[in-house]
Amino acid sequence: MSVLHDPKLESLLATLHARSDEQLAALRTYDAERASETKPPADEAARLKAFRSDKLVALDRDKAEFCYQLCRAGNARRIVEIGTSYGVSTLYLAAAVRDNVRASGGDGVVIGTEYEPDKAAAARAHFEQAGLSRYIELREGDLRETLRQIDGPVDFMLMDIWISMARPALELVGPHLKAGAVVIADNTAQYPSEYANYFAYLAANGFRTMTLPFDGGLELSVRCPS
Ligand SMILES: C[S@@+](CC[C@H](N)C(=O)[O-])C[C@H]1O[C@@H](n2cnc3c(N)ncnc32)[C@H](O)[C@@H]1O
Repeated sequence: MSVLHDPKLESLLATLHARSDEQLAALRTYDAERASETKPPADEAARLKAFRSDKLVALDRDKAEFCYQLCRAGNARRIVEIGTSYGVSTLYLAAAVRDNVRASGGDGVVIGTEYEPDKAAAARAHFEQAGLSRYIELREGDLRETLRQIDGPVDFMLMDIWISMARPALELVGPHLKAGAVVIADNTAQYPSEYANYFAYLAANGFRTMTLPFDGGLELSVRCPS
């Protein structure tokens, strides 16, 4: 049993993680082909978006369970997730909010973000299936628009997005993070140069950060205003 202690949810997640794992080989092949191209085609960005449009690219189980644990430890009530896809990590985060509410009352929400309409529809179906819809507000569209309005202090943020969007997302949500809020970002050790502008924002805005030794590196940053 995982840290979730919810057999129905774990069964749904096992199916979704398996689907995501099955797509990994195709993602690796695509990346290798791109790396071998001497001159990327003019329509590369559109091709890449189309290729990724049906891929889950779900957060690894251990990282997702770690996020659940952090959200339970910090009694997180307002969470922002950057990159929802089919809703795998969202389900872990929403389970944490649900379990925090059960443990000590009140309410809470996970704000998700997804710009592929088919992925958003599939994610909503998964939220219903898991009985977690009431804890999730999925914002559909480009996050640079959908995250302009954030009400209330944010306790926890998960950054699991195409890396070029990590800094714009942090710029929008960062000012709403409460002191002590945790931000998790995936694969920072694997893509240090791509994350350079993200790290620059952390350094300039009072975050303390460390890279945890999960596969590809998982960045744990804490907002520590002086
Ligand atoms: C790595 S996947 C997220 C996986 C998800 N966290 C999970 O565990 O299942 C990143 C997602 O972000 C979405 N995305 C990329 N750029 C976006 C943008 N500018 N606005 C909203 N969503 C975006 C992609 O369509 C993709 O589904």
